[in-house]
Amino acid sequence: MLRRLHKDQPASFAFTPANLEWAQGQISKYPAGRQASAIIPLLWRAQEQEGWLSRPAIELVADMLGMAYIRALEVATFYFMFQLQPTGRIAHVQICGTTSCMICGAEDLIKVCKELIAPAPHALSADGNFSWEEVECMGACANAPMAQIGKDYYEDLTPQMLRDLIARFSKGEVPVPGPQNGRYAAEPLSGLTSLKDFESGRAQYNASAQRAVDIGDVVKRIDGTEVPILTPWLGKTAKAAPAGDVALAEKPAKAEVAAASPKADKPAEAVAEGTKPAALTAPRDGAADSLQTIEGIGPALEKLCHELGIFHFDQIANWGPAEIAWMDANLKGFRGRVTRDRWVAQAKLIGEVGIPEFLRRAKTNDY
Ligand code: FES
Repeated sequence: MLRRLHKDQPASFAFTPANLEWAQGQISKYPAGRQASAIIPLLWRAQEQEGWLSRPAIELVADMLGMAYIRALEVATFYFMFQLQPTGRIAHVQICGTTSCMICGAEDLIKVCKELIAPAPHALSADGNFSWEEVECMGACANAPMAQIGKDYYEDLTPQMLRDLIARFSKGEVPVPGPQNGRYAAEPLSGLTSLKDFESGRAQYNASAQRAVDIGDVVKRIDGTEVPILTPWLGKTAKAAPAGDVALAEKPAKAEVAAASPKADKPAEAVAEGTKPAALTAPRDGAADSLQTIEGIGPALEKLCHELGIFHFDQIANWGPAEIAWMDANLKGFRGRVTRDRWVAQAKLIGEVGIPEFLRRAKTNDY
């Protein structure tokens, strides 16, 4: 495949202040004269920020590393992971077309992309929200066919599942990554044949999907405010992102920065917005519900809920708009998750149909 710079290029590129600081931290890892070693992470961060690599971005990175432009261009055009044309505003969909996935239906997934996104790969959809391409094996062959959407894998797909996923992304939702057919990970479809004890103590999702849910940046553009910039060799053990990024997402609230810092164990100040939900001092009968059953709640959010006196599904099910607003504003590092992941609807359904039926429906978004 011919890999060339896109014909339409922006006039300039600049890292956000936080990404610039992150990039400088990467460069500082290498001894004098070896700064070029940082080219892959810097190009990647530029792509994570903008969605693709423009010529000004490549040249800025070359300047930062003291490299000739042609050397940086060689790297950017060599690796297929670098997108040399604009990608979808919401997500870039990468369909694996290699052997296992091809045998299991990748060509039908590509037909869906051609129909719903654009007839040709690397072209934007009419609304600019999506783009797609066929890629080589992504190493998830046991869950074929699969697609990487944004940063994460969606596996065991059928054409209808891919249609549904694209529809949900279009609505601003972020479906849980991982197998979409009810499988936990890559076990046999008929269920475990060995190590069966594992089933009882496992987390809600497999480790990859759980981590994606916990981080919550599946299709988010990265502006550098997501995690503290740690460069202890420069004397910085935890650093909040600077203000003043006018181009991208809002600066995180103090509470979010505090939560992201490994040293921050002091509870952040509550934000006065909405009404604080009724809290319990301890779980009823000494046993909390497994709040991680709710799609979007991982170990960190469950712990936060407990700290706020929320232990049971029925507490969440009873929240009205005021309580939702308060929780959305006060979940340190996870603001907006109650609304985004529809906690209340999920908790109500659990109350109505029970956990096993809820889990069956959750995989198909049937709630
Ligand atoms: S063949 Fe598709 S992930 Fe390996």
